[in-house]
Parts: sequence; C-alpha cells; structure tokens
Amino acid sequence: MANTIPLSDVLALEDRTQPNAATVEGFTRTNAVDVVRVGVIGFGNWGPNIVRNLQSLERGEVVTICDRNPAVLRGAARMHRGVQVTTDPCEVLSSPDIDAVAVITPVRTHFDLAKAALQQGKHVFVEKPFTSTTAQAEELIELADRKNLRIMVDHTFLFSGAVMKIRSLVDSGALGTLYYFDSTRGNLGLLQHDINVVWDLAPHDLSILDHIIFERPQAVVTTGGNHLNGMADVAFITIYFPDNLIAHVNVNWLSPVKTRTTLIGGENKMLVWNDLEADEKIKIYDKGAKIVEPRDVHDHLVSYRSGDVWVPKVQHTEALKVELDYFVDCILNSRTPCNDGAAGLRVLRLLEAADQSLQQRGKIVTF
Ligand SMILES: NC(=O)c1ccc[n+]([C@@H]2O[C@H](COP(=O)([O-])OP(=O)(O)OC[C@H]3O[C@@H](n4cnc5c(N)ncnc54)[C@H](O)[C@@H]3O)[C@@H](O)[C@H]2O)c1
Repeated sequence: MANTIPLSDVLALEDRTQPNAATVEGFTRTNAVDVVRVGVIGFGNWGPNIVRNLQSLERGEVVTICDRNPAVLRGAARMHRGVQVTTDPCEVLSSPDIDAVAVITPVRTHFDLAKAALQQGKHVFVEKPFTSTTAQAEELIELADRKNLRIMVDHTFLFSGAVMKIRSLVDSGALGTLYYFDSTRGNLGLLQHDINVVWDLAPHDLSILDHIIFERPQAVVTTGGNHLNGMADVAFITIYFPDNLIAHVNVNWLSPVKTRTTLIGGENKMLVWNDLEADEKIKIYDKGAKIVEPRDVHDHLVSYRSGDVWVPKVQHTEALKVELDYFVDCILNSRTPCNDGAAGLRVLRLLEAADQSLQQRGKIVTF
C-alpha cells in the first residue's frame, strides 16, 4: 500500500501518461499467457461476485481489491488470500501490473473512477447505471475511443440463459412482430440514499429492452411515488416505440414479495419469463387474437388462438461469469462488446427521460 497519489492528481495525468504496454496492442508481448489482470474497486454487496467470477476465469486474474472501508477490506483479504488489498483507488489506477479496472462502487463515483482508469490506459468494466449523466457517458466513450480502450457496462442480464434465449427467439421471428414488453421487478428494499428506484432497478429492464428491440424509443412517460426518504420507491415507466410497440417497466422497492416477471407479446406467440423459476423460466404460448371479417366499426369478429405451451431449454451458467469472460475476450482480441459504452449511454438516455417525466408527474418526454 505504498503508492498514495490523490485521485485528483491521477485525473490530471491525462495525456501525459501513455497506456502501459500490457493494456493495448503489445498485450501479448508482455504477458507470456494471455491473462487480463484486473483491479476491482468496491467490495460491498456486488463486488464480491465480480471478484469470485473473475478469479474463476482461465484468462482473468484479480490483482488488487480496493475498498475505502477498512472493515470491508479485511473481509476481502480473508476471502482472497494472495490478492493485494488497498483502501486507496490510486494504487489500482496507477499500477503498471493492472490491465483493466472494475468499478463496482455507487453510481455517483463511476465517472471519476472510470475516467481516471481510462486516463491511465486501463480498460474498464463499470457497474450499471454507467454514469450519473449522459454527458459523463459521452465523455468516457470519447476518451476510450481516443485511447483504443474497451468499456463494458455491467448489463448482467444480457448474459443470462433466459435473455440469450429471448434474444434468439425475437431474432428468429418466432414471436412475430412484437406488440408489447411488460416487466415487473419488485422486492422489499434495498432503498438507496442517493438514487431512486428508477436508477437502481430499471437499468436491468432497460438494458434488456435495448438488447432485444432494435427500434429506438420515441417517448417516455413515468409515474411513481416516494413514501419514505424523498426518493421514488415505486415507479411505472411506459416507453413508446415506432409501429405501436409499447414497453412497460414496473420497479418497486416496497413490494412484499420478490417479483421478476416479464411478458412479451408478439403477433405469432406470447412469452412469459419468470426469473424466479428454477427450471421452467421461459414459457412460450401459442396464443393470440386477430380480427376477422370486420362487419362495421362496432361489430368486429375476433378469433382467439389457444395452442400449445412450449418450455425451451435455458442455459444455467452464471450470467456474470459469461459476461466477465466476454470482457476478457474483448480486451485480448480488441473486440467491441455489445454492452459497450454506447449501450450504457442508450440506457442512460432512457433513465434520464424516465426520471424527467417522473419529476413532472407523468409528463411525456420525447426523444
Ligand atoms: N449488475 C447487477 O446486477 C448489480 C447488482 C447490485 C449492484 N450493482 C451495482 O454495483 C454498484 C455497487 O453496488 P453495491 O450494492 O455493491 O453497493 P455497496 O454500497 O454495497 O458497495 C459499494 C462499496 O464501494 C465502496 N466504495 C465507495 N466509493 C469508493 C471509492 N471511491 N473507492 C473505493 N471504494 C469505494 C464502499 O465502501 C462499499 O463497500 C452500483 O453501481 C450498483 O448499481 C449491480
């Protein structure tokens, strides 16, 4: 723990410090084995999952764990003997032995830490939501492009067996033209002190939407309520897409039970994804309705279809492990991840619009 450069000094090093040889094109020259050496900043609720999964990878290695809370760090040291620990992020950011930095801290800190890491020539893995504002995200994307570095935003669900299956079903046209996406994500807590429920929970659903729907959203309406600490704890987000496609995301910190259910309605098939189901997470229903022989505007003949229910096989590999392996692979092979800074930015645009509408009690915000 010898190196104690203040974060502000690290920020000021931009452009005076070139990426270390191990982080860019010369990567394989300095590492006999292709291993990405990662420094993890933040070891609270989520950080331990990042460290555990990185350590399980053949091509990943956690070199240093940083948390400013010494008690947390003592736990990290006990859990991961042989891994360096520090309370000072600058030891991670300036270390020549680190190729990539994982930022697993509260959102208000993402921008400064990710920016400092990029300035030091490190690739970054940043938690969701990417940053606090779209302007910050744009700055990080520009910086990473300029330095030929990778940004990955932790949109974990994209790497779950369920979302990979849904994406392939949508891509193959099995559901037909999409009508709606309707998700509910609720549990009791964890109330955050610096962000509302939209910023905390909706990034999951919005990143999934962004991944499976290629049309760009046209408008957002959000209503909600704050009952405890001045932050919205219940919110209902409606997103309008072209061609009558509509999405609804219900996020709730005050739900008595945990709910993780998504309905996707298509012209040909309808899908229910219950992420709390152990085995049969996705069910596809051959159900639908169509208008036949409209006699006049008041007298439509509706034909309902109620066919088979199909339960597709869904991979059970831990999503975070798949995602982190992909992160390492993108670095080693100079590939742009699907959940790159641009994907993080698209989610942020929706979050900002949703929050703006929420503050104005459901005023429509257009893009
Ligand atoms: N992808 C997911 O499914 C998922 C799940 C949970 C949380 N998250 C995200 O992970 C991030 C962290 O969430 P959490 O629940 O672990 O939070 P947390 O508050 O439990 O942990 C954050 C840790 O970071 C440390 N920290 C804060 N600022 C620091 C700094 N400048 N330098 C070093 N350490 C610092 C704190 O001491 C704390 O131990 C958030 O952005 C959250 O949205 C993602």
